[in-house]
Amino acid sequence: MRIFVTGLSGQLGQALKARLRDHTLAGGSLPDWDMMDAALVRETLRAFRPDVVIHTAALTAVDYCARHPEEAIRVNGVGTYNVALACREVEALLVAISSNEVFDGQLDRPYYEYDRRNPVNPYGYSKYVAEQVVERIMPRYMIVRTAWLFAPGGRNFIHKILARARAGEPLRVVTDEVSSPTYVVDLADALARLIETGRPGVYHLVNEGACSRYEFAREALRLAGLEEVPIEPIRLADFPRPSTPPPHTPLVNIFASAAGVDLRPWREALAEYMVRHERGLAPERD
Ligand SMILES: NC(=O)c1ccc[n+]([C@@H]2O[C@H](COP(=O)([O-])OP(=O)(O)OC[C@H]3O[C@@H](n4cnc5c(N)ncnc54)[C@H](OP(=O)(O)O)[C@@H]3O)[C@@H](O)[C@H]2O)c1
Repeated sequence: MRIFVTGLSGQLGQALKARLRDHTLAGGSLPDWDMMDAALVRETLRAFRPDVVIHTAALTAVDYCARHPEEAIRVNGVGTYNVALACREVEALLVAISSNEVFDGQLDRPYYEYDRRNPVNPYGYSKYVAEQVVERIMPRYMIVRTAWLFAPGGRNFIHKILARARAGEPLRVVTDEVSSPTYVVDLADALARLIETGRPGVYHLVNEGACSRYEFAREALRLAGLEEVPIEPIRLADFPRPSTPPPHTPLVNIFASAAGVDLRPWREALAEYMVRHERGLAPERD
């Protein structure tokens, strides 16, 4: 297949590049390729003629989005609109990556694919706008929501926790924000398999299970051989930040699973991630 990946230099983009080696792959990212440039997006897709466009590009810094809500809507909404219009013109399948943050996190059970969306912060709202753009513009699409990505070389929660622990800085982590940690390598593999099915719809692709940020951090420290490093458990209310996260957004994969696309439990995925990418940084053991 001919596959174009927006946001190719991002965490997920890089994992897709590795996983989709057997396909004819192209992609674009800032600073060379800006999805806000509608003419450029159109020209690129007309020249490449993809069968599938995997749209990962987004403004993903949630606190930045909270401080610049209009910019978040412009980039994530209008950027997605530009990609969708071009994709429709070349009759490609659009696979748009979305987020657990389109939900308000108030349910006391995990979220299913067609639960009601009700974002509670500007990043979540901008991803909700992007989902609606896709639904209204595209005759054929997949919307794939994921959550709490961890990736080699990325800028994510696990890196921050390990870096602080290794620097001997104090750790305070919330116990009342819960979701589904997801390894980008597993997500890229699941996306490749889902695309093979050709089945349009809304999907949740996350590593199985859920945990709080506190449990996630504890498990990462344990796997890094840093279990003795203390973490102070705190509540969201004790940790004011520009973006208010939805508190309880574990995602359940019902629809991809029905097509045979399942992901392993997050603890297994994190263990493999730590062995592959973080082991060299663990302290020497006797
Ligand atoms: N990370 C998570 O925990 C998480 C959770 C749920 C859903 N998601 C969704 O998953 C997708 C991939 O996330 P990720 O963690 O791989 O994000 P990422 O590492 O921040 O990558 C996003 C990429 O998009 C690029 N980009 C931003 N604005 C662009 C524009 N106007 N034109 C072209 N490229 C642009 C970024 O470039 P710069 O780096 O130069 O800005 C970056 O290369 C996103 O759609 C995100 O909303 C992520």
